[in-house]
Amino acid sequence: MYVCVCYALSKTKLCTLISQGAQTLSALQNKCGAGTGCGTCVYKLKNLLSKEKASEAENEGNIKGPGEKSSPHRQD
Ligand code: FES
Repeated sequence: MYVCVCYALSKTKLCTLISQGAQTLSALQNKCGAGTGCGTCVYKLKNLLSKEKASEAENEGNIKGPGEKSSPHRQD
């Protein structure tokens, strides 16, 4: 199912573009034209952008560095 019918852009394609750096509406529009036709999909694009950003922020919060693990066998 297309998010942007005018440019035949699926959610998968748009999410790929967002993960590749098109993190704002205007960046997405410049990359693929999404939202620049009839404009009906602009609110969907904004929702998708905010969901993808929230998802990325959540994933970054789950990544731990090598020294951040706690060991049950501390040797002080
Ligand atoms: S549906 Fe996206 S510009 Fe028309």
